[in-house]
Amino acid sequence: MDIDLSQIPFWGLPQAERMAAFRRLRELDRPVFVKENPVPFIGAGEGYYALVRHADVVEASRNAEVFSSEPCSNSIPDMPRWLAVYFGSMINMDDPRHARLRRIVSRAFTPRILAKMEDDLAVAATEIVDQAVEAGPGDFVEQIAARLPVRVICDMMGIPAKFHDMVLRRTNVILGNADPEYTGVRPDFSRWNVAKGLGKLLHAGHSLNRLAAALGDERRKRPTGDLVSLLVNGDERLTPQELGSFFILLVVAGSETTRNAIAYGLKLFTDHPEQREHLMADFDGRITKACDEIVRYSTPVIQFRRTVTRDHGIYRKGDKVLLFYNSANRDEAVFTDPDVFDITRDPNPHVGFGGPGPHYCLGAHLARREMTVMFRELFTRLPGIRAVGEPDFLLSNFINGVKHLTYAY
Ligand code: HEM
Repeated sequence: MDIDLSQIPFWGLPQAERMAAFRRLRELDRPVFVKENPVPFIGAGEGYYALVRHADVVEASRNAEVFSSEPCSNSIPDMPRWLAVYFGSMINMDDPRHARLRRIVSRAFTPRILAKMEDDLAVAATEIVDQAVEAGPGDFVEQIAARLPVRVICDMMGIPAKFHDMVLRRTNVILGNADPEYTGVRPDFSRWNVAKGLGKLLHAGHSLNRLAAALGDERRKRPTGDLVSLLVNGDERLTPQELGSFFILLVVAGSETTRNAIAYGLKLFTDHPEQREHLMADFDGRITKACDEIVRYSTPVIQFRRTVTRDHGIYRKGDKVLLFYNSANRDEAVFTDPDVFDITRDPNPHVGFGGPGPHYCLGAHLARREMTVMFRELFTRLPGIRAVGEPDFLLSNFINGVKHLTYAY
């Protein structure tokens, strides 16, 4: 087969070509086995099965006893355990350790807390658009889309505004680690470049970890009733190390994803003005479904990994599988006209927030709320707003990222 998902250039192909390749993979009668590239210092496994059909992604997400998130779910090569936990917290754990952490951090995502955030979200969106209007049209990602998610998470954690830019730059390095724009490193597998990339990754992780850990120490000594105080005090609490790792997970998972959904949203509504007109005819009634369709269509997170714990069907114990959400979300067996962007799609059982199971996105509701307030602000205040030209995409086999998008209004 001429499709090789492990080659970096594949992920630089135009989206339509990549989606056509995944369509061919979905036609095969079983998941294709992809050989891994050796990575200096880390080595390589033999390879992985690419799960490209909706049913296969759902089964692997749901059956966490067989499809484990350990040793890591956010890296194709095995990471040393300490590194996986340091960068990924509970996303790289199985129950019962995962369940304990998820129970504690879920305190930050109760409907009551999210409802309380609603006004702050609207204020934040207004201020971000104020600043963008003052600066004049430019890069939609930098001026608008990337600003809201990072600010929301930093505000939740009580990270002062003067650190927001630093947090954003560090998360760019963590998730854009294959992209030279963020690392200054060529995307190849030479020892020198991999070492440089790893150095930048560790540095970025360390500064985020330190920021959160310092805040945790502070709140342990003097609780203020904010979220961090809630997480580090009480009977079941996070250790300083756990808090640092949870913060990395939260900023990376919450910020590098939602910003792409917002950027894609503007591009999709520009390319499909009839969809935007339909939305604006009943914004409040239609926006939630529209958000889900943006997430399905753009799939900001391309894949997560699982490792098979015992022989199961075609898999042997120790096999790796990759859950390609981008492909599952275009599976013609589940979605009528999957390549059509249709905000009235109902039902819309997309797996953009992960499949059903213990790791289903903790921030899905928050992400929809962020998208809602931002589109409301943009489309009511700047009715002429539109994307100009094509987005500049991130080179990554993990995040379907928009680095830059020119806009006008
Ligand atoms: C459009 C935006 C978003 C997308 C596409 C997205 C996607 C995902 C996906 C695919 C997973 C599943 C991982 C797996 O099964 O292994 C996940 C998990 C997670 N997401 Fe999101 N996410 C988004 C927004 C957010 C936000 C705003 C937050 C928090 C502020 C967040 C926090 C998390 C966390 C903590 C997990 C790990 C849950 C666990 O392991 O139990 N996400 N997300």
